[in-house]
Amino acid sequence: MAERPRIFATCDIGPQALERLRERGFELEVYPELHPPPRHLIVARVRSGIAALITTLRDRIDEEVLSAGAASGLRVVGQMAVGFDNIDRAAANRHRIPFTNTPDVLTDATAEFAFFMLGAVARKLYPAEAQVREHQWATWHPYKPWLGDEVTGRTLAVVGMGRIGRSLVHKAIGFDMDVLCHEPAEVDAAFVAGARRVIEARRRERFTLRPQTIEVVSLEDALRRADFVSLHVPLTFPGGDAEPTYHLIDERRLRLMKPTAYLVNTSRGPVVDEPALARALRERWIAGAALDVYETEPLPDDSPLRDPSLLLSLRLFPHAASAASATRLSPDPDVGMAGRCVQGVLDVLEGRYGGDPAQMPFVVNKEAFREGQPATSAQI
Ligand code: GLV
Repeated sequence: MAERPRIFATCDIGPQALERLRERGFELEVYPELHPPPRHLIVARVRSGIAALITTLRDRIDEEVLSAGAASGLRVVGQMAVGFDNIDRAAANRHRIPFTNTPDVLTDATAEFAFFMLGAVARKLYPAEAQVREHQWATWHPYKPWLGDEVTGRTLAVVGMGRIGRSLVHKAIGFDMDVLCHEPAEVDAAFVAGARRVIEARRRERFTLRPQTIEVVSLEDALRRADFVSLHVPLTFPGGDAEPTYHLIDERRLRLMKPTAYLVNTSRGPVVDEPALARALRERWIAGAALDVYETEPLPDDSPLRDPSLLLSLRLFPHAASAASATRLSPDPDVGMAGRCVQGVLDVLEGRYGGDPAQMPFVVNKEAFREGQPATSAQI
């Protein structure tokens, strides 16, 4: 009997989605630990001739892994995340190994979490609850021990107007916010026109009495004018991208923000220069920040962000913006990241779309498979 093609998953992506792979006749090995497997184990599994490798953003998939894959028959890397900065796209292209991601299904979960983070830091939800739990709630008082800042009617800058940024705009409009949009590429004019029609309808129907606005602005303008700045850009590095996002929010840009403004980051940690942010908060260049992602994850014990003096002004979350049960684990590829990850792997292994990765919806590096376009790093 022919050996069944093997799949190695670096993490348990949920029993139902994994069952779909077994049902389709694949032999599955799932790394059983909470922490990701060491590199040498990933490389060894790839060298053993697996057909597919299922990864999370914790696994570095680089030249070593991909060249081992090319030599051993690896046909696809299926990443359970929308972001893929942990995968060396140029190396995947050189070795003509398609990799997939899980866009769309986490858009609303991530955008709503960004919105909740913004509310949590501005309205001081965590210290407010701590007051009660730690028996510090002495009495009702008009302004003691402190007041928060309301969100309704304020100005939100959305930096990065992809799927998640646009979803956040939908939510912000519902909170009567004015919106400043910034995108390194061009902001979709049809989206802005649609948002203006929604704003007009809300006013007409008296959902809000104030005239709301949405504008497309430069990054500098967004930072200068916003009460809240939320980041939704992919992580890119100097040398690889015309406008790299590594340390996009650095000391100079933090100093442009209003002293009453808040920063929210659910994108990737290295988009923000963390020591500069800690200083901005300590020295009150800005009022507060809420982070779900960090330069190093999990957050190191000696991170400047752990400074106890930042307890009131800084909220810290464990890379959890997409951590809602259906969003993470549904086996339905139209609902869950796990389902979409499995579907991307099946598309390749079962030769759907005529076996052409360039036609497969969840393959990221389609450019490596397009006719007449040999995969060179220059195209990436
Ligand atoms: C999470 O950060 C993701 O990229 O899906």
